[in-house]
Amino acid sequence: MKDIIKNIKGTKDATLEETVIWQYIEEYIHKFFITYGYSEIRTPTFENTELFIKSIGGDSDIVSKEMYSWIDQGKNKLTLRPEFTASVVRHFIQNQLHKKNPMHKMYYIGSSFRRERPQKGRLREFHQFGVEAFGSKFPEQDAEIISMAYNFYKGLKIQDLNLEINSIGSKQSRDEYRKALKGYLEKYKSDLSETSQKRLESNPLRILDTKIDFEKEIIKDAPKIIDYLDKKDHHHFSNTLDFLDSIKIPYTINNYLVRGLDYYSQTVFEIQSSLLGSQNALCGGGRYDYLVEELGGQATPAIGFAAGIERLILAIDTKKIMNKTPDVYMISMGDEAIQFSFKIADKLRNDKNLYIVNDTLRRTMKSQLKDANRLMAKHVIIIGEEEINSKKLTIKNMKTGEQKKLSIENIIRFFK
Ligand code: HAM
Repeated sequence: MKDIIKNIKGTKDATLEETVIWQYIEEYIHKFFITYGYSEIRTPTFENTELFIKSIGGDSDIVSKEMYSWIDQGKNKLTLRPEFTASVVRHFIQNQLHKKNPMHKMYYIGSSFRRERPQKGRLREFHQFGVEAFGSKFPEQDAEIISMAYNFYKGLKIQDLNLEINSIGSKQSRDEYRKALKGYLEKYKSDLSETSQKRLESNPLRILDTKIDFEKEIIKDAPKIIDYLDKKDHHHFSNTLDFLDSIKIPYTINNYLVRGLDYYSQTVFEIQSSLLGSQNALCGGGRYDYLVEELGGQATPAIGFAAGIERLILAIDTKKIMNKTPDVYMISMGDEAIQFSFKIADKLRNDKNLYIVNDTLRRTMKSQLKDANRLMAKHVIIIGEEEINSKKLTIKNMKTGEQKKLSIENIIRFFK
């Protein structure tokens, strides 16, 4: 196998068996978001690099080291999307959607690209679905988005969900907090990792996200953002929580949750599941009330979340997602029977919309029957010499073993 061309590290094929799970999830996504009044938006897989730098932030891990960027033959700087929010905001601004309606609610699904170190639940090409709501600054909008994320996983019976919420406040309160946090962390600068020392200058809030144990110890006594929120921020946050309480969505407040993208303000949240291992975030999101304006649009409050499909598949009980089984497996013996079977299968599909499998290997009767059993076909229709002569086909219910001989018209009528 050494000379064959293989897939790129960090990418995955969905095998014939796995696509059943993907299709099930995709169908669930489309049905679920419609129930909240969200419509699907589709944007291109690549965009101008500048869009991601301006929205996600130049100091973020994504922009500073994970983007797949290139310069094309026309000297355009392009990037494969590492997430959707930036593209959806670009779409919102470019199409002046604020003029068409005061509120826009959208969902999306598709591939995203980040050059991270591949591991379980972390790929370089992965698939996200998510939602973005433009227009409302009110806490019920935050609660709608958060509860939607939570109920999405509940509906799929995912166990061990942990919803963490925080408020990182408006720009002003965050500036105050940043100063206080920086002042505190400066005292421990020489104890911090190299990455955190850099972040101390560029974005000290990101240090709160640390996975390093000795940094976690330092952070324990750091000032908390909750103490720096102004009255309006507090009000918004507590109202959001009240809405969640009213529909019994369980959550934990995590004052250290800041998220790795620069565009957030006010509410941020993540849902984790212990079923996932170290990459435990099923989804994450938050408000980004300044982003539309920062990208050149009219100031518009917005909030959303995105989730990884590969991580969802790790958490879902895939055994319960049954493959659809054939309604009929056509067993035919001899040239004439094969032609006959081909036509009947075509008629049953067209007239009755059935799932029909035709053997195209000209196998023995025994092998065809074995294959019908492997696929768990509900019925087999057997056409051999005797059936051709009598113009009556044998139909067998594979579950009950019941067998009858029916004319072609009656076979068609047999299926409702
Ligand atoms: P994010 O936290 O960067 O947020 O990604 C959202 C989700 O995508 C993660 O929780 C995870 O499930 C999945 N994910 C991220 N990176 C990978 C990877 N390398 N491999 C597999 N799965 C991955 C965003 O992307 C924001 N745009 C969310 C948002 C929407 N905020 C507001 N609106």
